[in-house]
Amino acid sequence: MTNQTYVDDLRTSASKHLIPHFTKSKDWAANRWPIIVEGDGCFVFDDQGRKYLDGLSGLFCVNLGYGRDDLVAAAANQMKKLSFAPNWKEAHPSAIEASASIAAVTPGDLNRTFFVNSGSEAVEAAIKFARQYFWANGEPWRRRIITRHLAYHGTTMGALSATALPRIKRPFEPMLDGFSHISNSMALTGVDDPVLVEEHLRLLEEEIIVLDPSSIALLIAEPIQNSGGAITPPAGYWSGLRRLCDKYGILLLADEVITGFGRLGSFFGVESMGVIPDMVTFAKGATSGYVPLGGLIVRDALASKLFEAAPSFTHGSTFGAHPVATAVLNANVAAISNEGILDNVKDLQNLLSKELTRLRENHICAYQLRGSGFLWALELAADSENMRPFTPSQSEEVLGEVVPAALDEAGLIVRPDDRGGTMLVISPPLVANEEIIGQLCERLDTVLSKVDRFCESLSKRKEG
Ligand SMILES: Cc1ncc(COP(=O)(O)O)c(C=O)c1O
Repeated sequence: MTNQTYVDDLRTSASKHLIPHFTKSKDWAANRWPIIVEGDGCFVFDDQGRKYLDGLSGLFCVNLGYGRDDLVAAAANQMKKLSFAPNWKEAHPSAIEASASIAAVTPGDLNRTFFVNSGSEAVEAAIKFARQYFWANGEPWRRRIITRHLAYHGTTMGALSATALPRIKRPFEPMLDGFSHISNSMALTGVDDPVLVEEHLRLLEEEIIVLDPSSIALLIAEPIQNSGGAITPPAGYWSGLRRLCDKYGILLLADEVITGFGRLGSFFGVESMGVIPDMVTFAKGATSGYVPLGGLIVRDALASKLFEAAPSFTHGSTFGAHPVATAVLNANVAAISNEGILDNVKDLQNLLSKELTRLRENHICAYQLRGSGFLWALELAADSENMRPFTPSQSEEVLGEVVPAALDEAGLIVRPDDRGGTMLVISPPLVANEEIIGQLCERLDTVLSKVDRFCESLSKRKEG
């Protein structure tokens, strides 16, 4: 079989047998997607041998880049030694070591980890932990879960109920009972006045009061909210969330599925926020995406109180704390520490921010830049100087046609995102060096030039 025949067969087979995730069926049917066959460092290669700079780390997860011998060896050695053991009524060394290595890099007394297989499952576990915690400790009416507008927390029914994106919830309604959404910190973008931050937090408190704080078990927030476009809070915001939760006896969960394991230049993003939440969820970068693994980290006192009041945390799964996945986590954490990965992000975030700022200033389509570390969103507009946004159909054309074609030509992967705006989300592997950052921004420059041309054509269409 020739290579081309093999590739053609793959495409035919995919359209017959493979169900894609969150992919428009018209794009799937039109065969408008690459088949990625190989990865190396910060690059991936498709079935035609084309090379792409992966400015999205797969899906915010390939933190250490592709093709690493150490992570592969960790998985292979573990598979040979003990390919499977459950984590109920028994344990195995790689899960125990993984829980200890996480405790060593989390702030404060976030020392206990419950392992699952994805970010959605981690959020699901957090919801169940919070509800069982209050149920067992004499406050069974405290069940409400609150999250912030536009936030994405996953697709299982609990995590989806927590998600604040009506469009992806609608087909599955009714959602679970007892979930509410409050304002996110978008209004504080670029604000560095503590008075304004306090005023925002006061309004947030009013929203919480309306929901009846005594009924609220858990507030879930990301250190930087990805959905909505790297919504980055100012100093004082997260300590304000901590204060509000303490005042009303609400548990605070940092959903670090994207920000965990180095993306913001610290092992966990809350560290940069100077706050210790009651719980942290993680997934994606925990194994640099080499194998699926997620988890819920809880503070010592919280875990102790649950186990004193209840016979067990009534939750679990066959593959939770899988030996191979936890072995890869151990190798991943060791590499992040030994190779100065966090310092790399801290050292290069200014360069990335400077280059992206230059692009924002040079392109008529580039409106606002938000983010920190290696997590950024560039919001696009029809005319950024006059703050004229795209209409919904223009936005669809930009994100669905103009940008994908330009990215393809540039050999670049970033994420076109329409959740709350018209955006490009940029999130390179944490091993990217100066040269890779330079290449990423050069390629993005050419993409933005094509969007500029589209914007110019819109004015002409109007004049015509
Ligand atoms: C903040 C956040 N939480 C939860 C999830 C769900 O993770 P997963 O896709 O692994 O289920 C995601 C996925 O992108 C996420 O960004």
